[in-house]
Amino acid sequence: MRQFNESATSRRLFLQFLAASPLIGSAVHEALAVDAAQVPPRLPDPISWGPLNVDGLIKSPQEALSVFDFELVARQKVPPAHFGKVATGSDDEFTMRANRADFAKVRLLPRRLRDVSKPDSSITLFGVQWDSPVFICPAGASRAMHPDGDVGVSKAAEAGKHLQILAASVSTSIEDCMAARGGTPIWFQLYPQYGFEITKDIIARAERRGAPVLVLTIDMPVSPNFETLERLTRLDHQTCTNCHQTPAGGPTAAEMLSRPHYASIPPERYKTISSSPVKLDWDFVRRLRDATKMKVVLKGIIAPEDAALCVKYGFDGMIVSNHGGRAGDFGTSSISVLPEIVAVVKGKIPILVDSGFRRGMDVIKALAMGATAVGICRPYLWGLGAFGQAGVERVLEILRTETRVAMAQAGAPSLKDLVPAMIHVDQV
Ligand SMILES: Cc1cc2nc3c(=O)[nH]c(=O)nc-3n(C[C@H](O)[C@H](O)[C@H](O)COP(=O)(O)O)c2cc1C
Repeated sequence: MRQFNESATSRRLFLQFLAASPLIGSAVHEALAVDAAQVPPRLPDPISWGPLNVDGLIKSPQEALSVFDFELVARQKVPPAHFGKVATGSDDEFTMRANRADFAKVRLLPRRLRDVSKPDSSITLFGVQWDSPVFICPAGASRAMHPDGDVGVSKAAEAGKHLQILAASVSTSIEDCMAARGGTPIWFQLYPQYGFEITKDIIARAERRGAPVLVLTIDMPVSPNFETLERLTRLDHQTCTNCHQTPAGGPTAAEMLSRPHYASIPPERYKTISSSPVKLDWDFVRRLRDATKMKVVLKGIIAPEDAALCVKYGFDGMIVSNHGGRAGDFGTSSISVLPEIVAVVKGKIPILVDSGFRRGMDVIKALAMGATAVGICRPYLWGLGAFGQAGVERVLEILRTETRVAMAQAGAPSLKDLVPAMIHVDQV
């Protein structure tokens, strides 16, 4: 069986390699197309012994051994264009791969003979306690994965008492998501791109509806080149507008303005605004910060210099993130820049981190480096696409279990026992 899987995997990798060559023609593409119809085309790293045909995929969330099991099922169940939206990175996806590969360069030295019989993985952020250091990243994609959508994600997050950040671009209101969580506050994420007055208005509504923290995502000054999305969209023969108003090229003005968080944008202004974004700079985000009582966290910090400015200008926190390899293909993983950022921030504000986290062991490496919490995005979207809310619940359960197991293995009864002295990073 192992031999069979290995040769089948090698065959597919070989075909993919050949297909990438402009000299090898359509025969290989045809072979790949047949292959793609049988099995999901991309096997993520630890699944090399995973199922290679649809019959071998997990049939229920409980069968999953790791979060990776859900990606294959989501690939099978979700329309290719929707799956492509989640799968894509930018350009050659070097950054997306670095987000995973760089965990192998981070080594952790476990401590022995400590009582780890009851690992406590809770964190406190801005005075609120969460049962797990793993948080739900904002993503405007839940409804495209499953009808359970953002409400399903919220219920799953509540089941494990995880912090959740809701994207402003979703079509579910923050109050509906909070209601699904029995009133637990949810952080609100926004791309500040609509001009000061309008953005201030969107923020004020979120504040009135009970969001305690505003997350401003600052890593998307322009639309990225999402080739995987484009290629998978070409495989999708459905007519987008049969099911939803949003055409493949993005939302129409009417659709955008029907989304609950954007209702304050005057319709006649949306088109102009969306085609000519604001001048997004430090001054702009500082003015927004001063216009709200919410805590304000900047998402998308990679350079230590920007982390220093974030502290200098009095922001309440930051998320070290390259948007899951979607905000430019610089090749810089989040985990590789974390130690330098921790060094400049010096504990003055909390550092959250995301991009490429898939295992409890990944989570504790970042916490040992000095992060307070770790975000995941694609794993819960895979869970959602595969099995709806139940899939998200299981993804989060796996990560909670893996995190506690990793803590015990590292000799850390609580998260404060994870310290930089445990970390050795290989030089690249
Ligand atoms: C489909 C999709 C949609 C996303 N939408 C948003 C968004 O609306 N706002 C945002 O700040 N980040 C967005 N992100 C980025 C995530 O919040 C997060 O930074 C990143 O995906 C984490 O990496 P991971 O997917 O490897 O876990 C999105 C990511 C994906 C995959």
